[in-house]
Amino acid sequence: LFAGPSEFVKGVVAMSGLPPADRVEVCFAGRSNVGKSSLINALTGTKGLARASNTPGRTQEINFFTQGPDLYLVDLPGYGYANAPLKVVEKWQKLLKQYLSGRQTLRRAFVLIDARHGVKSVDDEIMKLLDSSAVTFQCVLTKADKVKAVDRDKVLAQVRGALAKHPAAYPEIVLTSSEKGDGIATLRAIINSLL
Ligand code: GTP
Ligand code: MG
Repeated sequence: LFAGPSEFVKGVVAMSGLPPADRVEVCFAGRSNVGKSSLINALTGTKGLARASNTPGRTQEINFFTQGPDLYLVDLPGYGYANAPLKVVEKWQKLLKQYLSGRQTLRRAFVLIDARHGVKSVDDEIMKLLDSSAVTFQCVLTKADKVKAVDRDKVLAQVRGALAKHPAAYPEIVLTSSEKGDGIATLRAIINSLL
């Protein structure tokens, strides 16, 4: 169950470094700065577990965290960072493809989308990759505290439209704020249901 302490296990830069696939795993993908690390901190209730920062592109490795004895939470490097060198982007894309297609215990990917901005073309690319890797993914809107209700509803409609094109998309969208705690219990329950 989604209970018990969380610990950082390791940061991985190559498939050979992956920890043993001995428990259920969910991963968090999204553009740089969308709030992946903050969401993991909120879910685990452990401030500073996954490092969150104002500097986009800070998390460069695939970071594995345990949540209790039965679950890995996986923080993927942010994509769409304009200043990233092409070589870094290519290396990352290769690793991501290998990880998504080769990880038997990966139950679901959460694709984080900023509640102010909606789905961008880079997000659509990741969703295509998830489709082709046959990894079910679910959209999580982040930073809900930063958006007005009317704008949020527009973004929700845009995200729904974008998801409709992806066979691997799970239709339910989760609205969250790591800052205020909105949606965190819902997301925990969703992850629990995968165990
Ligand atoms: P990379 O590791 O660079 O890909 O970024 P990330 O997706 O892990 O984002 P991170 O969690 O580091 O958050 C980026 C910035 O957004 C930080 O300054 C966070 O404090 C802020 N942030 C994250 N979640 C929220 C939220 O729910 N509300 C608000 N207001 N700010 C948030
Ligand atoms: Mg991060």
